[in-house]
Amino acid sequence: MSEILQIKDVRKWFNSEGKKLLVLDGISFDVRAGEFIGIVGPSGCGKTTLLRIIAGLEKQDEGEVLLRGKPIKGPGQDRAMVFQDYALFPWRNVIGNILFGLEIRNIPKKEALEKANRFIKLVGLEGFERSYPHELSGGMRQRVALARALVCEPEILLMDEPLSALDAQTRNVMQSELVRIWSETKKTIIYVTHNIEEAVYMADRIVVLSKRPAKLLDLAEVKMERPRDRFSKEFIDLRAKIFRLIQS
Ligand SMILES: Nc1ncnc2c1ncn2[C@@H]1O[C@H](COP(=O)(O)OP(=O)(O)O)[C@@H](O)[C@H]1O
Ligand SMILES: [Mg+2]
Repeated sequence: MSEILQIKDVRKWFNSEGKKLLVLDGISFDVRAGEFIGIVGPSGCGKTTLLRIIAGLEKQDEGEVLLRGKPIKGPGQDRAMVFQDYALFPWRNVIGNILFGLEIRNIPKKEALEKANRFIKLVGLEGFERSYPHELSGGMRQRVALARALVCEPEILLMDEPLSALDAQTRNVMQSELVRIWSETKKTIIYVTHNIEEAVYMADRIVVLSKRPAKLLDLAEVKMERPRDRFSKEFIDLRAKIFRLIQS
């Protein structure tokens, strides 16, 4: 597998009340094409900042971030972001939301509709094409957000705590759905969460960050076959190991 993304000794400071606040303290790791990477760490440690740097929405102060060997200069169609709050357009129905990215890129209507319908099917939204966001449950809204990100066919999907607003039951269902969609689309996924169980359930490897300023504590490989059993000893042990690492 080839490396799609290389993060090399990244440091990032923010200005906070006239002082320099170190947020990312020398983070390095590589991401292979097609990999599902989890990023975990305590709240406020710098996970979103790291994801925004990869998205090209924020710039590191030191170090390098290379996408297929080239420095990231800004946002691009090769990367799409999915957020916790869905960021759907309330005045557009499901298909309208999914079509949005294709419209602004002037994709011909027929082709756009075909694409949108393909991704509606992929995320399990058939029959809800004409529904509006307020008529949908949280899990369904997140499916719309996912389809909207995927329809533009990015290579990398950047996800920032996308399931955090959902109840535990729906979250579990959506975790399985994400793993299925990932394996069907062969995308590279970088998935930020403060929920260790979520990362252990889904990811190939987990970037474990310390409290702020975030240092890389571990790059944990998850060797369990999917679908994973949350109650297996291996699962519980790995979850506990990462939990203790972050606490220490
Ligand atoms: N634009 C900004 N200006 C100043 N401080 C910021 C900015 N963005 C984030 N921070 C601070 O950086 C730290 C890390 O934030 P963030 O990356 O959002 O953490 P996480 O996603 O892990 O909860 C926090 O202390 C936050 O207050
Ligand atoms: Mg965050």
